[in-house]
Amino acid sequence: MTTRVLRSSEIRPRGLGRRLLHSSLLEALAYPHGVDRYVELVRPLLLTRDVRSEVLAVRHQTPRSVTLTLRANENWRGFRAGQFVGVSVEVDGVRLTRPYSPAGSEHAPGGELELTVSTHPEGRVSRHLRDHARPGMIVDLTQARGDFVLPECRPERVLLISGGSGITPVMAMLRTLCEEGYAGEIGFLNYARSRALALYDLELATLVLRHEGLRVARGFTRARGPELTGRFSREHVRAVTSEHAEAATFVCGPPALIDSVRAVWAEDGLAEPTVETFTPPALCFDTDGAEGRVSFTVSGREAANSGLPLLEQAEDAGLAPDHGCRMGICNTCSCHKTAGTVRNVISGAISSAGEEQIRICVSVPVGDVSLDL
Ligand SMILES: Cc1cc2nc3c(=O)[nH]c(=O)nc-3n(C[C@H](O)[C@H](O)[C@H](O)COP(=O)(O)OP(=O)(O)OC[C@H]3O[C@@H](n4cnc5c(N)ncnc54)[C@H](O)[C@@H]3O)c2cc1C
Ligand code: FES
Repeated sequence: MTTRVLRSSEIRPRGLGRRLLHSSLLEALAYPHGVDRYVELVRPLLLTRDVRSEVLAVRHQTPRSVTLTLRANENWRGFRAGQFVGVSVEVDGVRLTRPYSPAGSEHAPGGELELTVSTHPEGRVSRHLRDHARPGMIVDLTQARGDFVLPECRPERVLLISGGSGITPVMAMLRTLCEEGYAGEIGFLNYARSRALALYDLELATLVLRHEGLRVARGFTRARGPELTGRFSREHVRAVTSEHAEAATFVCGPPALIDSVRAVWAEDGLAEPTVETFTPPALCFDTDGAEGRVSFTVSGREAANSGLPLLEQAEDAGLAPDHGCRMGICNTCSCHKTAGTVRNVISGAISSAGEEQIRICVSVPVGDVSLDL
């Protein structure tokens, strides 16, 4: 008889054990820390509510990236190709959360997901993951979120355009469609700075051989590309489809790439493509006309309203609120406002609802505001 030692991710509570972990009696006995805080000391993946994952494999496709294969615990509800998850890690004793888009198929079995993280020169989480991620490492996740997704009813033609690290959500869409045996046409246009920094090179070459309807073209913006030269243009689109007007188009990449695609689509009188960027937009703020004071009630700090988003005002006051995307997408910076009016810098909407949860990265005070920070 052979015996096999189970990995912690394979040890999942079942039946009575699971019901017991979820019981309000046990939760009451564990007060004030909650059951999860005790359970995690023994089995890190065996949490009653939180999503946790174990790193199964680590590979470096390029010197500036790391690709992690993770297996999430039972609380994970899966994802739709194109969505993102919040990934939390502890860096120098501080817990930081950043959004990352799974790059694998949404049909991957057993709670498996793949993340490819490109490093930023000063980036705390991206460099931490590149330098320290190892098999067996435990990573906290949120459930998947986001509207950058393929329609449930698959369109006849799909065009996927990406640049740099923005390849991840469209790679998930491509892998998902291929795994479904999608019979329509897929155009896949991707830009990297150079061959050395190009992600998923080998995988794309293999997928093209296996899927008749798939056309892939890659461009290197700082070198001559294998198929394309220079930055995005109308000619590049023709390399992967002759029917871009008919294709459901998804674009993920730096703002300049998104703007170029939008310009071509507008010239052709087409509906806006579905877009996502990982880079916060450059926004202008009226700092001269700012009035009132901002009170951070938990820390007891207070400052004159500078007119900047509350996240920046909190940082300027010496606080370090948790945040992720800094553009109102991931909800990591969500904070309780106890009083006052704020304006959303992206939508322009004014909210004076008094007590409410707000995303402080995109909320600017209009007069006095108090926050639970
Ligand atoms: C919806 C969504 C999905 C994402 N998916 C992925 C993904 O799949 N793979 C991936 O590699 N990244 C992805 N990102 C970006 C990722 O969340 C982080 O922003 C990135 O890893 C940098 O985090 P950091 O902690 O290393 O940098 P930080 O310590 O937060 O920042 C360090 C410096 O880098 C700059 N910086 C940070 N992020 C960016 C950026 N995106 N572009 C330009 N400058 C930046 C900051 O201004 C700062 O000066 C996604 C972002 C969003 C909003
Ligand atoms: S940091 Fe992502 S919503 Fe504010």
